[in-house]
Amino acid sequence: MNPDSPRYLHLKKLAERNAGHTINALLHSPDRLQSLVFSQRHLHLDLSKNLIDNEALQALVDLAEDAGLPDRINDLFAGKVVNPSEQRAALHVQIRDPKAPLYRASLEPMTALVSGYREGALKTAFGQHVTDVVNIGIGGSYLGPRLAVEALTNLQTDNRIKNHFLASVDRAALQQLLQNIDLRHTLFCVSSKSFGTAETLLNARRIAEMLARQPDHAPGPGRCSLVAVTAAHEKASVLDIPDSHVVRMDAAIGGRFSVWSGIGFPLMMAIGPDAFKQFLAGAHSMDAHFHSAPLARNLPVLMALLSIWYRNFIGWPAYAVIPYDARLAQLPSWLQQLMMESTGKQHSLQGTPVHHATAAWVFGGHGQLSQHAFFQAFHQGLDALPIDFIGVLEDDESQQFMLINMLAQGAALMQGRHSAEQTERNTAGNKPSTTLLLDGLHPESLGELLAMYEHMVYCQSVIWEVNCFDQPGVELGKHIALSIQQRMRDGELDALDLDPSTRALLEKVLKHD
Ligand code: F6P
Repeated sequence: MNPDSPRYLHLKKLAERNAGHTINALLHSPDRLQSLVFSQRHLHLDLSKNLIDNEALQALVDLAEDAGLPDRINDLFAGKVVNPSEQRAALHVQIRDPKAPLYRASLEPMTALVSGYREGALKTAFGQHVTDVVNIGIGGSYLGPRLAVEALTNLQTDNRIKNHFLASVDRAALQQLLQNIDLRHTLFCVSSKSFGTAETLLNARRIAEMLARQPDHAPGPGRCSLVAVTAAHEKASVLDIPDSHVVRMDAAIGGRFSVWSGIGFPLMMAIGPDAFKQFLAGAHSMDAHFHSAPLARNLPVLMALLSIWYRNFIGWPAYAVIPYDARLAQLPSWLQQLMMESTGKQHSLQGTPVHHATAAWVFGGHGQLSQHAFFQAFHQGLDALPIDFIGVLEDDESQQFMLINMLAQGAALMQGRHSAEQTERNTAGNKPSTTLLLDGLHPESLGELLAMYEHMVYCQSVIWEVNCFDQPGVELGKHIALSIQQRMRDGELDALDLDPSTRALLEKVLKHD
């Protein structure tokens, strides 16, 4: 995206003109609902309350064409290299396509292990059946599984397996976990694509040592309390996890896009292999739509174009996602990593600096709780931001109460309040939002929803010309932490090249007993 290009400058002009529009007036223009409201299998997407007119939308579609988006979508599905810094394809669409060879290769080994534990052929290292699964992993090896398990655990069968997540290395988190599980009945799943993430390995070692200290711990054939999920299977031996308990994932599955792979192990343990396949099927149906629909009627493409409109042409730096459903409470965290780690970049695919804004800062929370926390600023704050409201249709009184509130918020943000009385209560209005309704919360609808956001992010990256499958920016902090630990071990803290503030803080940390 070149800020000096005629297309970019034209869009800038349209954005200036846009400032004179009201969403309310746009909503009454002919065909608004027909062109901006979509039903795609289990999703109903209403984009009509966005602050954009047809001409600007068409100019954004043209921008996507200029960026070669249709070809780049084909590249993704053809398994071409779309992650140039690591010289890799991105194969998440293939592991959910039943016709692709990778589908079975990814699914079958995991299914065999899950079925073994769920049906009792496999036991823990104490010879016990599994009642609890603890996922040890962080980032993409945590957020997707946690979101999906929480969203779908109403599908757990009588053979109910409880899921827990250990992501950070806080002692308190570990202690809390240990209070809630019976070690002898617990299966620990060490999820790490790289098998090199310090937090995950530290937690995994602590657990492995704790298990080994138990008197009746006796791993052997058919008895194991540990499973590893990784693309670096050779490294799993550091924890003495037998090869039969290592679920391999392809290195070309990006961490943030990996819930469909072996990283979904805890989810499959929770909902069973059949429901897991439906989850893949939901995502695959969104893939098919994304691959074939014209840009102007393509849900992930439109979501991406609108986000770019607000970010680059209107200039808003944030993005909110607000599910009105406790089961989707983890969606904002998952989307935060997906968007911010994927497109929070300042170098193009060729490694040159980019001269336009990229990732917005994503945040959100359960709608009802957020309404009573930060919505005041949405309504009367001077800034605005794009907001995705997400609700689940269910014939249930409390569900409808929440959804009515959700719709009321969208309407209020748009209409505002303009009264001559109690003017301190007035709100400017004309604030946009998108509304997404799921026809129920089940594996297929969740799969569709997550795949839609994944593809939205891919489209953003194509237009912004950044690589959405790497994350070089997070390395520096890890490197500094490692060098501090190294110098501490060697008693050479004075040799550290640290700024005075960090050095003083470090001294405080190290002197604190
Ligand atoms: O530090 C960031 C990151 O590399 C994420 O991209 C990734 O999801 C997370 O760490 C965990 O990585 P891994 O699955 O290799 O342990």
